[in-house]
Formats: sequence, structure tokens, C-alpha cells
Amino acid sequence: MRISVIGCGYLGAVHAGAMASIGHEVVGVDVDVRKIRALSRGEAPFFEPDLQELLTAGIASGRLRFTTDIAEASGAAVHFIAVGTPQQAHGHAADLTYVNASVDALLPQLQPGDIVAGKSTVPVGTAAELAPRIEATGATLVWNPEFLREGWAVKDTIEPDRLVVGIGASTGSATGQAGEVDAGRRAADILREVYHPAVAADTPFIVTDWATAELVKVAANAFLATKISFINAMAEIAEATGADVTQLADAIGHDARIGRRFLGSGIGFGGGCLPKDIRAFSARAEELGRGESVAFLREVDAINLRRRDRAVDLVIQGLGGSVFERRIAVLGAAFKPYSDDVRDSPALDVAVRLRGLGADVVVTDPAAIDNARRLHPQLTYIEDRDDAIRDADAILMVTEWDTYRRELTPEHASTLTAGRVAIDGRNGWDAAAWRAAGWQYLGMGKP
Ligand code: UGA
Repeated sequence: MRISVIGCGYLGAVHAGAMASIGHEVVGVDVDVRKIRALSRGEAPFFEPDLQELLTAGIASGRLRFTTDIAEASGAAVHFIAVGTPQQAHGHAADLTYVNASVDALLPQLQPGDIVAGKSTVPVGTAAELAPRIEATGATLVWNPEFLREGWAVKDTIEPDRLVVGIGASTGSATGQAGEVDAGRRAADILREVYHPAVAADTPFIVTDWATAELVKVAANAFLATKISFINAMAEIAEATGADVTQLADAIGHDARIGRRFLGSGIGFGGGCLPKDIRAFSARAEELGRGESVAFLREVDAINLRRRDRAVDLVIQGLGGSVFERRIAVLGAAFKPYSDDVRDSPALDVAVRLRGLGADVVVTDPAAIDNARRLHPQLTYIEDRDDAIRDADAILMVTEWDTYRRELTPEHASTLTAGRVAIDGRNGWDAAAWRAAGWQYLGMGKP
């Protein structure tokens, strides 16, 4: 099938590569010339396992190409909108500038029978707003949200745990027309063909209305953020009582209704999705007059941000009351391991705060230093883990890369520095092992 992907950022580049790998003929379109040049050479513009191979194979097969010319989208049966929806510069709502611009650019290329499939994370109601212009061309709009995780993006795209397709105007909706529903059903069938390997593997395929599809995405991210902040709230209670939040998470996680995943306590969530998605969801709910329904998301956000303060407090405590002119090795800059993404990274935020308190901060990360340096050139970056730890008064793990969490032993760290303060911002280290090696170990929500 001929497919166009409008927007070749994180989502779009992975989607284009994945679609080519399952046999489609794909053109990826973006306004950023540098990005398109890199992708055309088969280079992933960001760190993502398996993406480089996917792009190289796609380009070599002749089924994948990238362009800045939107006219090359013409003739595709399905056009995926995969542009970003960042948080507005002044406010919490989503900025739809790129969604609107990409639809405007695509309209002249659309032909009757084409399908436009929105993948971007948008406020509920966006599809209904965009539809009249798109459907005036004879094309059909569906909303097909993406659930990929950075670091697992290729796998999540090719083998998703569910596929959701929102089609136009379900019975009972204000604009409901029988023709629209038929066109929507046909579009959903075409998307089944697009995602043929996942469909053949019996992946749940949910056909619903636009609003539900848009909401599924933000509801999923809101739930995940809530789960993380729930356990971090328990960490705060543990801190007041001497309890151990990790054991608590293990114990409640054995209940299959609760589950252990996403109960990882520490400095909290960040990245380009969870923080901005819960804020945009709250803003949209306010617009709908339903702000109170998701008022708890404000607490979720607040708990999350408080954990960064707590990490800073632990460093101060570990160093006996002040970090001024003390050397601190910050292990990690990315918002999570297997990513070079530093958008809203709690790790980097903690490093910046410590430097603001006069600490001599050295940041290391296996993948994210270039991005971190662009955002915070005032920090000192050292690529090599051991060089970063050398002579540090305290070491602070804030991104649980294997090289810090599993491979760095307290015995080895002891050979690099006389400092003996280890702060575990991700509750990933074995407290007993660090203590046995003579370190003062401080975790988040742990005795
Ligand atoms: C998230 C969702 O997990 C995806 O399903 C969704 O598709 C994506 O957003 C998106 O909207 O595009 P991602 O941002 O890649 O994916 O990262 P997550 O794996 O969800 O991690 C988010 C943050 O939560 C990270 O900072 C991570 O360190 C933190 N986290 C995660 C915890 O603090 N504790 C946990 O137990 C799990």
C-alpha cells in the first residue's frame, strides 16, 4: 500500500520505517531539511534502538524515502499525521500549530477515497474540528493514536498491544451521517490491511468514534502518570514513617489487579509525553466544564515535581547540610534509559538545581550529553562514567541506565573517589551492598 507520513520526528520517523518494513511503500514528509537529509541517508536523528537498521533496510529496499515536498504525498492511500503537539509556551494546553499546518499543507494533495489517519496526541474534539475540511476533498479522517514508548518504539509500532481506530460520527453524535459511518468503516478495514502483521497476530483492534480514540491516548498516559505519582506519594509517607516504598510496591504489585509495572519510585516521570499530556488533558477538561473530573491530575503533577526537591534535599543531607562547592557526580541526563531525550528530564532538572545551589556538578550519560549540553550549557559534562565519579563527594543516580544501576558496584566506585555518599534517585541500587562497602546510602522513600 502507498503511505505518506507527515511529520518525521520521533513518532513519524519510527512509523515510516516500521510501515516500510512490513511491506508498504512509504514517503515521509517534514519541513525540516536537516532532518530529511539525515533520514534519507538512513541516519536516525535521535537515539532509538533498532531504528537505524530499520531506516537503512527500508531505504535499500526502495520502499522508503523522505522528502520536504508535500506534493509527494499525493497518490498515497493513507496519510498519517504524526507531527508534535507540544505544551503551549504560555499555558498548559496543547499547541496544535503543527497539526493545523500539516492538514493545510496536505489538503491540496488529497484525492477522493484517501484516508487521513491522525496519530498525534490531541485534545479530544480535534478530529471533529479538522474533519469538515478534510472530508470536503472526498477523503476520510480517522484517529489512530500511537502508544509507543521511547526505547521500545520500533517494537511497539510493529507489535502493538492494541490498535485503536476512531471513525467519524458514530450514531447519536451531532454530525452523525450514515455515509460518514460507512466511509469510516471502510477506512478502518483499510487500516487493518495497513497493520496486517499485527492483525494476523490477533492484536486487539478497537474501532470506535473519534472522541473515544482521542481520549484513549490521553487516558492511558494519565493513568500511567497517576500510577507513578501514586507510588511516589507512598514514598513520601514512607519517608515520614521509616517504611520502605520498594518493598511496599513489590507487595502491592503481587495483586494482579494492581500489578508491579509503573510502580517504580524515585525522582518521577518526565519526557516529551506524560508531563505535557496530563497538563493538556486538564486544560481541555476545563474547557469542557469538567475540570473537576481530572483535578487529581494537578496533584499527580505536583507529587511528581516534589520528588525532584526531595532528591536535592537528600544530596544536601548526605553532604552534611550544604552542597556548596562540593563535587557531585550526576549519573544520567536522559528522562529514562535507552533514550537520548532530555525533554522535561527530572535527571537534568535535579542537576541544574544542585548547580544553582553552588555545587560543582558533573553530569554523565551514555547517550544524552549532546542534547543536555544544548539545553543546559552551564553544566559540566563528562562522557566517561568513571571519570565523572572520580573525586566526587557524592554520586547521584537519576537515570537507571544499566551501566549505573547494575554494572557500577560500590567496590568499584570506592576505587574512584574517597567520597562515600550514594544517592539513589531511582531506587535501583542494593542499599545493603552499598552500606556494606562503607557508603552512606540514601534512597527515595527508603529507610
Ligand atoms: C509514554 C507512555 O509510556 C507510552 O505508552 C506513550 O505512547 C508515550 O508516553 C507517548 O505518549 O508517546 P515514554 O514517554 O516513552 O512513553 O516513557 P515511559 O516509559 O512511559 O516513561 C515516562 C517517565 O516515567 C520516565 O521519566 C520514566 O523514568 C518514568 N517512570 C516510568 C517512573 O518514574 N517509574 C516507573 O515505574 C515507570
